Amino acid sequence: MSTFYDQKIIWITGASSGIGLGLVKVLSKQSCTLIISGRQEVELQKIKQEYEKGGAEIYVLAFDLEHISTFDKLTQSLIDKYKRIDILFNNGGISQRAIASDTPLSVDRKLMEVNYFANIALSKCVLPYMQQQQSGIIAVTSSITGKFGYYYRSGYAASKHALHGYYESLYLENKDWGLQVTMICPGSIQTAIAQNALNNEGKSNGKEEQRLQEGMDAEHCAKQIIKAVAQKKKEVFIGGSELLPVYLKRWFPNLFWKLMYRLKH
Ligand SMILES: NC(=O)c1ccc[n+]([C@@H]2O[C@H](COP(=O)([O-])OP(=O)(O)OC[C@H]3O[C@@H](n4cnc5c(N)ncnc54)[C@H](OP(=O)(O)O)[C@@H]3O)[C@@H](O)[C@H]2O)c1
Repeated sequence: MSTFYDQKIIWITGASSGIGLGLVKVLSKQSCTLIISGRQEVELQKIKQEYEKGGAEIYVLAFDLEHISTFDKLTQSLIDKYKRIDILFNNGGISQRAIASDTPLSVDRKLMEVNYFANIALSKCVLPYMQQQQSGIIAVTSSITGKFGYYYRSGYAASKHALHGYYESLYLENKDWGLQVTMICPGSIQTAIAQNALNNEGKSNGKEEQRLQEGMDAEHCAKQIIKAVAQKKKEVFIGGSELLPVYLKRWFPNLFWKLMYRLKH
């Protein structure tokens, strides 16, 4: 695994906290270059200072995923500096805690904008350079909610489902020259995702959730992501018993629906 990431130029979005920060912590021990992104520049600079000692070179590129028109220039600036991008961890995102009937379309749009449109827009910017290189990896943080809908997450689930359709097509179209796409579907990971989730007013939910706090540690999750990408997996599910509905839906749909009704709270 260690040699796989050596000398690679790796761009990580959502690197300022949670799973993205976990990726930085683990990959910073390798001889690679990490471009770390998020909106919180001060936080990203602190992360650079703390983890650059590990071996990797770390470069901070702060930007807002809602500002899609800036992506071309940002990508070009990285190409000017590093000449290539080997891996894009398209990880930044926001969740939702609001029932569909109470949620105005503006909130659904915001979820799609950040989780889907920004995600594919960044891939569109990076893809031509990967094609020139005749190699490249796009690792996309979806969710188990990208495989089945769940209470209070209608817009979030839609945005994550959309990623699978898009990236399966992108992979098929670009497989011949060597594009790798790895779809990452975490279950419950200990991060600030629930606090940062949008409520029906489009504001941060602000509440921790016990289920997530009891979930997998973000660094452990990052290690599994890093392994799956190195093993060229097309899709990986990361978590514990919360992954069960994914398999039930596929193989025992009636049981899946019974279980999901029971989970109503
Ligand atoms: N934790 C889980 O249980 C879980 C489960 C399944 C999937 N996921 C997915 O994992 C990914 C990472 O989430 P996390 O759990 O690590 O949550 P998190 O701690 O809240 O991290 C979210 C990251 O996304 C970035 N981000 C959010 N909105 C942004 C915007 N408008 N522009 C730029 N960056 C933005 C944040 O950076 P700034 O605040 O600096 O902007 C932050 O670094 C997300 O795609 C999420 O859907 C998480």
